[in-house]
Amino acid sequence: MTGLLDGKALAARMQSEMAAEVAQLQTQYGRSPGLAVLMVGDNPASAAYVRNKEQACERVGIASYGQHFPAETTQPTLEAAIQQLNQDDRVDGILVQLPLPDHLDSVALLNQIDPNKDADGLHPTNLGRLLRGEPGLQSCTPAGSMRLMQEYGLSFKGKQAVVVGRSILVGKPLALMLLAEDATVTIAHSRTPDLATVTRSADILVAAVGRTHLITGDMVKPGAVVIDVGINRVVNPETGKGRLVGDVDFDSVQPVAEWITPVPGGIGPMTVTMLLHNTVWSYRQRMIG
Ligand SMILES: NC(=O)c1ccc[n+]([C@@H]2O[C@H](COP(=O)([O-])OP(=O)(O)OC[C@H]3O[C@@H](n4cnc5c(N)ncnc54)[C@H](OP(=O)(O)O)[C@@H]3O)[C@@H](O)[C@H]2O)c1
Repeated sequence: MTGLLDGKALAARMQSEMAAEVAQLQTQYGRSPGLAVLMVGDNPASAAYVRNKEQACERVGIASYGQHFPAETTQPTLEAAIQQLNQDDRVDGILVQLPLPDHLDSVALLNQIDPNKDADGLHPTNLGRLLRGEPGLQSCTPAGSMRLMQEYGLSFKGKQAVVVGRSILVGKPLALMLLAEDATVTIAHSRTPDLATVTRSADILVAAVGRTHLITGDMVKPGAVVIDVGINRVVNPETGKGRLVGDVDFDSVQPVAEWITPVPGGIGPMTVTMLLHNTVWSYRQRMIG
């Protein structure tokens, strides 16, 4: 019987626990944690993600200091906005919603964020801390994936883990987190020959690619844990309606896997929850030390 790793349920529980924690911090220190999400342009998917993050902040009592800039905003204007937020004592977390319009240099912008307010954990200082196994702000999607597996008591020690995807946002940091938990880790990518042979070796298989149903049942080792990070929008040509699917073909993989995350309701809600967690963590570091 395959178990469902229910990110939606865990996220709801963590957020309600965080709401109590934030209320107590507010009483004790006289202010709530604050998060600033910077968005540039009108990408509808980004706008939905930002709304989602702001609603989650509201649920747990984190103050939002979001700023929305027009698509033609220049690099110096955004850098100045980040510098201002770095200095703003009400703000504990800063996040730049990606992707940015083509004329902007996202890496240079992310590097402007104070590493101690880097809610997305993408600053080189925080990625360096992760590489060295030091405490720090960690990238939300990989951290949420680990937290979800830990919640279900899944073990990593001595397991073969395969991460498909090597982005700085998901694949690479998740591989480091699995390594830190004593898994033996392989990272696969678009140039990996015979992907199926690699994925079939995995006790823990993570798909972080962005290709609808790339991973099918015949590519999965019986009894594996399958984490589907992918979010892909597919449109039904008859109704014109869109829906979200993962990188994993749930119907063919579920009978083979022992544990699997659904899309939606798996890693997505955990990502937002870890963003809130990071903001509260920064607040605690800054207020309490
Ligand atoms: N659930 C969430 O909250 C959440 C958060 C973030 C991202 N996501 C989703 O996760 C997915 C990955 O995001 P990302 O930012 O990591 O994407 P990305 O930067 O585009 O990276 C995709 C990775 O997949 C690899 N890849 C592409 N085609 C492949 C193939 N046919 N076989 C094997 N590997 C292949 C690429 O390899 P190369 O390096 O060789 O090009 C790359 O390393 C997307 O669907 C995104 O929407 C979800």
